[in-house]
Amino acid sequence: MSPTPSSPAPLLYRHRHLLGIEGLTRPEIGSLLDLSESYIEPIRSKTKSALLVGRTVINLFFENSTRTRTSFELAAKRLGADVINMQVQASSIKKGETLLDTAMTLNAMHPDVLVVRHPDSGAVNLLSQKVDGAVINAGDGSHEHPTQALLDAVTIRRRRGRLEGQLVAICGDVLHSRVARSNIHLLTTMGARVRVIAPPTLLPAAIERLGVEAFTDMRKGLKDCDIVMMLRLQSERMHGSHVPSTREYFHFFGLDYGKLDAAKPDALIMHPGPMNRGVEIDSEVADDIDRSAIREQVEMGVAVRMACLDVLTRPLRSNAEA
Ligand code: NCD
Repeated sequence: MSPTPSSPAPLLYRHRHLLGIEGLTRPEIGSLLDLSESYIEPIRSKTKSALLVGRTVINLFFENSTRTRTSFELAAKRLGADVINMQVQASSIKKGETLLDTAMTLNAMHPDVLVVRHPDSGAVNLLSQKVDGAVINAGDGSHEHPTQALLDAVTIRRRRGRLEGQLVAICGDVLHSRVARSNIHLLTTMGARVRVIAPPTLLPAAIERLGVEAFTDMRKGLKDCDIVMMLRLQSERMHGSHVPSTREYFHFFGLDYGKLDAAKPDALIMHPGPMNRGVEIDSEVADDIDRSAIREQVEMGVAVRMACLDVLTRPLRSNAEA
């Protein structure tokens, strides 16, 4: 085990939980990004730290997840924590146990951090008010997914040097996307310009109030963009029909080389995963090693989650040391 790779830079994030990006300041976000970058090297060299030895992280997932759950699990293990994974919809919900009952049961086990994903917007916030440990929102309904926005920002910053001034297009099912909302808050706070591109049925009403420009035509919206962020068509959140057919959707809104032509020649392609190839993104574009940052996003996810676990457990660790 090696000593902690934590950045010596002063840490400006002082909240008890990480529930969303909305409301965070530019210095707070900047310091989380800096700390995340300091964890990239330890991930690549597979260095394990003892920072969270003796601490417990519970991954409480009320929705299916592969990459986010495993990413948090790996991050916690790399920091030496004990990790418990709870996939809930199959067990407690069926038995009629409520969100808060589950939270209270887990709270009695004294976890230091609870990483929570829930299909309802606001559920993670509610839970955070009832438990003693720190809570990280791993996605609540179509509300926020803060660690995804942070990992996207680290990816952009490493590829482009800065977030400020980047022209970013977020394309597809914006209406149901917590990834879009967290990214909009983060990117606009950090000085990037954000466009959203979607069919009118998948654009939230008055989205411009969040400081973005809205487009319903891919080529117009992608014109001169530096970053093209694609979103999954989230049928599990749709009540009724929002698109005529996936074929037609791909024709008008799927990212292929034809549409990508409108963006800057070196525009970076991103997707949070899981991808619907041939629906929101053409397979060749997704796998384009020169232009797609999709694999790097996954790698940065572990670094960001290590940084978040580090930050939120600092008060506990400093009490223990005192
Ligand atoms: C996203 C999510 O769950 O919100 N995926 C993820 O975290 N890897 C996006 C999505 O499900 O489309």
